[in-house]
Amino acid sequence: MNAENTAKAAEPSSPVETLINLHRPIVIGHRGYNQIAPENTLPSFKLAKMAGADMVELDYYNAKDGKLVCIHDEVLDRTTDAVAKWGEKGVHINSKTSDELCSLDAGKWFDKKNAGSHLPIYAGTHLPTLDESLDLIQDGNLTLIHHKEGDAATCLKLLREKNLVNKVIVQSFDWNYLKDFHQLEPNQVLGALGPLWSRGGKQLTNAEKVLDQSWVDEVKSNGARLVVWNNQITREAVDYAHQHGMKVWVYTINEPAMANKMLDLGADGIITDNTSIIWRAIALRATEKGLPR
Ligand code: G3P
Repeated sequence: MNAENTAKAAEPSSPVETLINLHRPIVIGHRGYNQIAPENTLPSFKLAKMAGADMVELDYYNAKDGKLVCIHDEVLDRTTDAVAKWGEKGVHINSKTSDELCSLDAGKWFDKKNAGSHLPIYAGTHLPTLDESLDLIQDGNLTLIHHKEGDAATCLKLLREKNLVNKVIVQSFDWNYLKDFHQLEPNQVLGALGPLWSRGGKQLTNAEKVLDQSWVDEVKSNGARLVVWNNQITREAVDYAHQHGMKVWVYTINEPAMANKMLDLGADGIITDNTSIIWRAIALRATEKGLPR
């Protein structure tokens, strides 16, 4: 064995590399386990882990003070008490500091939506920072970080400080962000979310949004190794991605029939609002059809 091979053999494989190369479908909890807990909160992340998600997905934005905060929408109205608390609608995440944002209640809206159900009361659950979310999820699990807004360097700085480079996966619909991230840290596994709404300045038709070889090529050229698409995928495109060393994950799949269709097309990972339902579908598939893949 020459020196180069020795160095390679000694390099420990990251948990992310191990996960994406497993020969079975990967199940990812979308915004945690958001069918039974308020999305993008610590209880939701905890429940996804308890339900056996391979990864827990969350969304983040840069707050006004540069800290990163977990929330899906760019304004606070739907999933926090910001309107009641501050008397203003449409407040953007980046106009408030992380302390201000984390003082918001991110559970009350969910209680209201599920009034009369047997779910626990989540009022008092605060909006989490990315930092504290990573502490919770990475303790025994892996995070799929969905970048919503902000620069690559700020997220990378946090990952480096926490020694989490390539111990998480970072994904975005903003492929320029991915390109920047890849240039700054080529080792970090990145996922390119699609379909995009436009390409080369042109609005896309539904047919143009279906995953095909040209999309896979473009994802690869931006430094991403995962294609993370909606259910508009084809067997040919998935095979092509696999031939080029890439994986295809799909979102947001909550129905067993659709999960089976995606797995039949060769999808490697399923992002779901309900981890348990998808695991059940995979288990039944295994008993009914033999091993899943
Ligand atoms: O992980 C994929 C998923 O996050 C897709 O985006 O914004 O619908 O949650 P979104």
